[in-house]
Amino acid sequence: MQLILVLIAALGGAEACQRERTFKSHFSHNHVKRQASNVPFPPSLDANEQVLVNSFDNTSISQWSYYYTHGAHLAGQNKTMAQWTADKWAEYGFTSRLDEYYVYLNYPVSHSLQLTYPNGTIFTASLQEEVLAVDETTSYPNRIPTFHGYSFTGNASAEYVYVGRGQQVDFERLIALGVELEGKIAVAKYGGPFRGLKVKNSQEHGMIGTVIFTDPSDDGNITEAKGVVAYPNGPARNPTTVQRGSVQFLSIYPGDPTTPGYTSKEDSPRADKSNSVPHIPSLPISWVDAQPILEALNGYGTAGVEVNRSGWVGAIPGVNYSTGQGSPATLSLTNVMEDHTTWIWDAVGIINGTNQDEVIIVGNHRDAWIVGGAADPNSGSSVLIELSKAFGQLLQTGWKPTRTIVLCSWDAEEYGLVGSTEWVEEYIPWLKGAAVSNLNIDVAVSGPIPGIAATPDLHNISTEVMKKVIWPYRGTTNRTMYDVWIEEDGEIGVLGSGSDYTAFVHRGIGAIDMGAGGGPTDPVYHYHSNYDSYHWMSTFGDPGFISHEAIGQYLTLLLYHLADDAVLPLEPAMYSSELQTYFEDLNTTLGEYNATLDLSELSTAIATFNTSAQEFNALREFAITSNDADLVTVQNHKARDFSRGFTSQGGLPGREFFQNLIFAPGLDTGYAPVTFPAITESITFAGNETLAQEWVGKTAKAIGLAAAILKT
Ligand SMILES: *[C@@H]1O[C@H](CO)[C@@H](O)[C@H](O)[C@H]1NC(C)=O
Ligand SMILES: *[C@@H]1O[C@H](CO)[C@@H](O)[C@H](O)[C@H]1NC(C)=O
Ligand SMILES: *[C@@H]1O[C@H](CO)[C@@H](O)[C@H](O)[C@H]1NC(C)=O
Ligand SMILES: *[C@@H]1O[C@H](CO)[C@@H](O)[C@H](O)[C@H]1NC(C)=O
Ligand SMILES: *[C@@H]1O[C@H](CO)[C@@H](O)[C@H](O)[C@H]1NC(C)=O
Ligand SMILES: *[C@@H]1O[C@H](CO)[C@@H](O)[C@H](O)[C@H]1NC(C)=O
Ligand SMILES: *[C@@H]1O[C@H](CO)[C@@H](O)[C@H](O)[C@H]1NC(C)=O
Ligand SMILES: *[C@@H]1O[C@H](CO)[C@@H](O)[C@H](O)[C@H]1NC(C)=O
Ligand SMILES: *[C@@H]1O[C@H](CO)[C@@H](O)[C@H](O)[C@H]1NC(C)=O
Ligand SMILES: *[C@@H]1O[C@H](CO)[C@@H](O)[C@H](O)[C@H]1NC(C)=O
Ligand SMILES: *[C@@H]1O[C@H](CO)[C@@H](O)[C@H](O)[C@H]1NC(C)=O
Ligand SMILES: *[C@@H]1O[C@H](CO)[C@@H](O)[C@H](O)[C@H]1NC(C)=O
Ligand SMILES: [Zn+2]
Repeated sequence: MQLILVLIAALGGAEACQRERTFKSHFSHNHVKRQASNVPFPPSLDANEQVLVNSFDNTSISQWSYYYTHGAHLAGQNKTMAQWTADKWAEYGFTSRLDEYYVYLNYPVSHSLQLTYPNGTIFTASLQEEVLAVDETTSYPNRIPTFHGYSFTGNASAEYVYVGRGQQVDFERLIALGVELEGKIAVAKYGGPFRGLKVKNSQEHGMIGTVIFTDPSDDGNITEAKGVVAYPNGPARNPTTVQRGSVQFLSIYPGDPTTPGYTSKEDSPRADKSNSVPHIPSLPISWVDAQPILEALNGYGTAGVEVNRSGWVGAIPGVNYSTGQGSPATLSLTNVMEDHTTWIWDAVGIINGTNQDEVIIVGNHRDAWIVGGAADPNSGSSVLIELSKAFGQLLQTGWKPTRTIVLCSWDAEEYGLVGSTEWVEEYIPWLKGAAVSNLNIDVAVSGPIPGIAATPDLHNISTEVMKKVIWPYRGTTNRTMYDVWIEEDGEIGVLGSGSDYTAFVHRGIGAIDMGAGGGPTDPVYHYHSNYDSYHWMSTFGDPGFISHEAIGQYLTLLLYHLADDAVLPLEPAMYSSELQTYFEDLNTTLGEYNATLDLSELSTAIATFNTSAQEFNALREFAITSNDADLVTVQNHKARDFSRGFTSQGGLPGREFFQNLIFAPGLDTGYAPVTFPAITESITFAGNETLAQEWVGKTAKAIGLAAAILKT
């Protein structure tokens, strides 16, 4: 039961690159599941929509995918691929360029991990993924080692402790159990919070290193232990899979850690990065490397079942997931990274609209931890090339968009949303005035089930467009994306973090993140592993590239409507009911924490917003019926601008980058969202009612400002 919930919860939002299957955060609210309606089939499309949809071709998508997944493209290391992307867009009619930033990155040099048993015997971890003959890119001589981006160069030799998922509550439990942490090495399980926060929490408890392992328990029933054959011969996880990834403190500060709040140019002043990257070393490992390490803790300290925390006990054979207190076994790890301040390249492609003060930004990152990256991120990259080709077809009919379309292929997302954050920091004056929405597609496809997460203003259009797309699903071709989504998910997620929409949302720009992922019976997606390859994708993930085609058509039609509908299809009024739900969630949280706050200012602000949104709708309706184009423009601009009001210049307490007062990544989750974050976390983390009450006032003011923008 628990497991089903976990797996289904993972579908609630789109699969983002920095996101894995996770528990739904306690503080994220459960959206009401939408009801199916009678969706016409096949969908009826107008002439332009037909041109766009018919341009999609699974064979050319597979070619783009093949290109992106057959050359190393770690952040800052493949300008050729950036230029190729820009050139493709240019070929289809976009004006393209590369925007360069000069950023701090680090690259792996060497590493090692040894377990010393009490009798002196040594086990040396392989720290490598197996080379597979059928999967050609796993044997490339320039394949990328297993490592953590932005990890600390250093050695650690000590006794070690199993710390579960490595969230603050896990450490609190260990302390309650009397486990000594100071001076020890943490062994943490992947899943739950963003990996950098596991390292941060270890570091804050005086630990000197962190080893993070993948556990087959996160694969549900699709495991070798349950008789399923592993990749490359079957859909279960290859046991040598290692999850690479960044250990930046994502919930504190994304972007180049040395230029907080401003863009990274060659001569930009460089700030101290110690608040946003670790100062203890860390390594990612496979479950086969983790097995002897954890087994050596069996019988020491508290056994896993007695620790009694959800997600603590995994499924590695022979392992009891004991805390390990008192085990004489030791670990010795080394991690050598090379620091660079170096160039990264964002490819940018533009079609000018008639109204250049209304801009839709479509983004996908290009960099990957591995030579492949067939799902993360290059399923999205392939879709963007195909999208540009579709718009190229439409341009040839003489069409020109009402609004400006900007395509962005971000670099260095994987290290910490670097390419998108630096770009937003550079163009913020223009974006504040002109940006309508950011459409993000990171892992476009890692399985067959569509999912979206979006700001409320985009809820209506994002579900309406689903009704226009045929979604091939488990052998059927007679349903729309909407039908499949309703059946399998039907909830629009709240945006936390983990992909490139973050800098937009936290500057008050509405956004959607989309992608298709696997359910509990689908092949296991090898996230940030060499097996996220073209071979895996074409054999298990999306044979025939049919889900690529469908999600690409969806993004294309969504972009088309946002860029070309005379009446901008945003619904500010959708915030009213969402804000009310977040309010009730906050009230529940306050109850759980025995906190007493006066929420009247907040409820008044939500009511004011509701009134303004209704007035906005009435005036927009009047503009339409009276055919008043100027008034339509005025209303379009209000819909474009109102969500800027939700931001606070100074940011959330202790993390000034995150300015959105309605939703943010949780301080100790990194991926999963928290609503009314400043108020909520002043209670749940700071335990400071005075602070929380101050933020009730500031949050109410922000909502009032959004309401005022809609009204004027
Ligand atoms: C795993 O299989 C068992 C037995 O068939 C079933 O009860 C359970 O729901 C399955 N779990 C998932 C996550 O599908
Ligand atoms: C960059 O990527 C392309 C396409 O995958 C590949 O052909 C090329 O070898 C890569 N360049 C480097 C330096 O790895
Ligand atoms: C040392 O201990 C390990 C783990 O218990 C065991 O596998 C190994 O055989 C032992 N070696 C010797 C020489 O006793
Ligand atoms: C870390 O260990 C490696 C290998 O044992 C050694 O070469 C290196 O000097 C050590 N580094 C530090 C900073 O102690
Ligand atoms: C591990 O747990 C199993 C059952 O939960 C138990 O039978 C076994 O004795 C434990 N092993 C150790 C070394 O504690
Ligand atoms: C485990 O924790 C739950 C609540 O989190 C509690 O109800 C239960 O009694 C605990 N079980 C044990 C064995 O401590
Ligand atoms: C698009 O508009 C910008 C800004 O107005 C202008 O600089 C640029 O030349 C235009 N591009 C094209 C291809 O017309
Ligand atoms: C789709 O086709 C399948 C058979 O291929 C049929 O069982 C199902 O009822 C159809 N669904 C709809 C919505 O028409
Ligand atoms: C494209 O789809 C068709 C029909 O669905 C299929 O036969 C073909 O193999 C697919 N192409 C690729 C490259 O997968
Ligand atoms: C807030 O929660 C309390 C219980 O903690 C409940 O009695 C009250 O009705 C809730 N108020 C609102 C407005 O939901
Ligand atoms: C809230 O108060 C109740 C009853 O006084 C107590 O049992 C509970 O532990 C408290 N919860 C918190 C989070 O302080
Ligand atoms: C709680 O927050 C208030 C307002 O920001 C601050 O003045 C006070 O020092 C904080 N209290 C504690 C215990 O941190
Ligand atoms: Zn990604």
